[in-house]
Amino acid sequence: MALTMRPRGTNDIIPGEIELWLELEEKIRQVCHAYGYQEIRTPMFEHTELFLRGIGDTTDIVEKEMYTFLDRGERSITLRPEGTAPVVRAYLENKLGSGALPVKVFYYGPMFRYERPQSGRYRQFTQFGLEVLGSGDPLLDVETIVLPLEVYKACGLTGFTVEINSIGCSNSDCRPAYREELIAYFEPQVEKLCKNCQSRLHRNPLRLLDCKNEGCQPILNGAPNISNYLCDDCEDHFSQVCAYLDALEIAYKINPRLVRGFDYYTRTVFEVTYSELGSQNAIGAGGRYDGLIEEVGGDPTPAVGFAVGVERLLLALKSQNKLEASTARPNAYLVHFGGESKIKAAQVAYFLRGHGLWIELDYLDRSVRAQMKAANRLSSSYVLVFGEEELANNQVLIRNMADGQEQLHNLDQLEELIKILA
Ligand code: HAM
Repeated sequence: MALTMRPRGTNDIIPGEIELWLELEEKIRQVCHAYGYQEIRTPMFEHTELFLRGIGDTTDIVEKEMYTFLDRGERSITLRPEGTAPVVRAYLENKLGSGALPVKVFYYGPMFRYERPQSGRYRQFTQFGLEVLGSGDPLLDVETIVLPLEVYKACGLTGFTVEINSIGCSNSDCRPAYREELIAYFEPQVEKLCKNCQSRLHRNPLRLLDCKNEGCQPILNGAPNISNYLCDDCEDHFSQVCAYLDALEIAYKINPRLVRGFDYYTRTVFEVTYSELGSQNAIGAGGRYDGLIEEVGGDPTPAVGFAVGVERLLLALKSQNKLEASTARPNAYLVHFGGESKIKAAQVAYFLRGHGLWIELDYLDRSVRAQMKAANRLSSSYVLVFGEEELANNQVLIRNMADGQEQLHNLDQLEELIKILA
């Protein structure tokens, strides 16, 4: 393996691209601020047990996708594949629930899943996520959907689709009853299902509903619909979610086959897709998880959350030509002649940079011509020439690159210089 190759499924974000990431992050922070969310940062790795218990040991993530290893103290550690279980752990460990409820947090950072890499699917990817803990209000399910939509809109993205569903709760007359119905429906035709569905039938029958295998589709289409099996409370919750979405005029589709790949979900689940992205078209997804906090060791506490795949959002924006090249440019390029002239330029650069101006200068002993070329290439707004004659008079020549106007400036008046260049 060449040392110059990064591990499969990872990405470098290089200068020229990072600006878009920072801009997006800025938009995320603005929207989160408006909705009263505060940032939380949890470790990149956790005890493996947290994800086994939190995500569920029959899920794809836990069965095949976790980066798990023993550390030097023989503890089983896992690079976080998602942010919800870590936030719940941090909520309990830091007793965040002892303050005002609900607790509203957002996070932004890398997640790790050993998946088969392809466009939009990576082994290290970035999620922007939000979690609200401590309230079962259906308005929060809606706000959790709306906030990422506001981020998509702030970026200029159009043409995404919001799908929602309710997968009920663990009360015996709700999801468990539906589960039995599903098993009873699929069992007589099990031979016609794909291997994956066959192996999941008894362990996690709801997951059959989101199988993408062509051959399974006719059978899946005839499966019982969860909406006929919700308990009264879950049905009421879901109809309130729909009513709030209608009131806010958010377009959505109810997809009774949307089930999601984590065991922690209860009631509302949602996914936002952008079809141009092909098979990896989910640009964000989430749902309510009213049982997870108790599962991790806390008191029963309702919660809901969402996570956006940042790489996929950027791919979606790219497909709509919504990514504008950065227009940032240096305030000034300082052209020097080496020796004393370079020392003076270094002093002035130090002063101006200390006042927040972007100042460039030459470090390769290049000719004046080459330095002027470099200034042009960077689209520097001004060029300052530290020529012998100017320095003898304690002056510098300022050239405005937009109109070619030149003026001499006294180097004792550096405060004035800031005003000219800013
Ligand atoms: P998820 O559906 O696994 O949910 O991931 C959320 C989003 O992360 C996906 O819709 C996708 O945009 C992005 N994503 C997932 N896997 C990859 C990958 N391998 N490469 C690139 N992007 C990817 C969760 O992670 C839940 N924790 C969401 C949540 C928060 N539920 C409640 N709160």
